[in-house]
Amino acid sequence: MSYNNILTQFDNGVTTITINRPTKLNALNKETIAELHEAFKAADNDSETKVIILTGSGEKAFVAGADISEFADFNVEEGADLAAKGQELLFDFVENLSTPVIAAVNGFALGGGLELAMSCHIRVASDNAKMGLPEVSLGVIPGYGGTQRLPQLVGKGRAMEMIMTAGMITAEQALNYGLVNHVVAHDQLLEFGMGIAAKIMKNSPKAIGKAIEVINAGFKTGVNGYVAEIEGFGYCFGTEDFKEGTTAFLEKRKAAFTGE
Ligand code: COA
Repeated sequence: MSYNNILTQFDNGVTTITINRPTKLNALNKETIAELHEAFKAADNDSETKVIILTGSGEKAFVAGADISEFADFNVEEGADLAAKGQELLFDFVENLSTPVIAAVNGFALGGGLELAMSCHIRVASDNAKMGLPEVSLGVIPGYGGTQRLPQLVGKGRAMEMIMTAGMITAEQALNYGLVNHVVAHDQLLEFGMGIAAKIMKNSPKAIGKAIEVINAGFKTGVNGYVAEIEGFGYCFGTEDFKEGTTAFLEKRKAAFTGE
């Protein structure tokens, strides 16, 4: 499938999705969100893809936010609709994929850009990255899950400060906050992401998908994460991957998981 605003590449079990609007610092317009939805869906459905890496094109930005030019004249209903559709199509969608998604944050991750990185399962940043939720400087609040996911990752107090000041933090601060897992030199970012992907790919895709689901369950209102874990744990015993993993261990060989 061909896209106007994103690039996709498959290499060695990893699909890399690159947001490609560098002249607009990869800002998320409606078309880009729709294309990202399609690309993530296709990669998740592709049995050859074991890990997805998401990054931005150019030296400067991962994503500098939602495209401000698209919503500047919206009314109350249109504003709420923008947030609801975006959350459904992209942010919640990515968070709930069974294929692991690594955000390789290669520069500015602001507003919707940071919200998108936070929807991914793992975040790695380059040393030039800057992150923030500047929405209140525009007279609006984060609408793509930022008020919920930022406190989950950095704690309520830090999230309050980041959102109310609309300021940016450096990659080092983000590491210190637990907002990203690693900071690496800009030119090593994708290779580093590939290294994490390689470690993930040694393990059972079926169990990894279930682990993502159960970890997310604990953050959902009205869902008991411990109960979800018990059910998920039991579920794994019925999979081919479980038979292969345990048999391989007992036979002292490397497991060859099929993801079944
Ligand atoms: N929406 C739409 N366009 C955006 C954008 C966004 N969120 N972020 C950047 N752009 C566009 C700029 O309008 C500019 O386009 P132009 O060349 O056609 O005028 C281009 O990207 C380059 O941005 P520019 O502001 O010139 O780069 P800079 O290096 O001076 O500043 C930023 C970089 C990230 C600090 C600045 O672009 C910025 O503050 N962006 C908005 C961040 C934001 O508030 N995001 C939250 C949105 S809810």
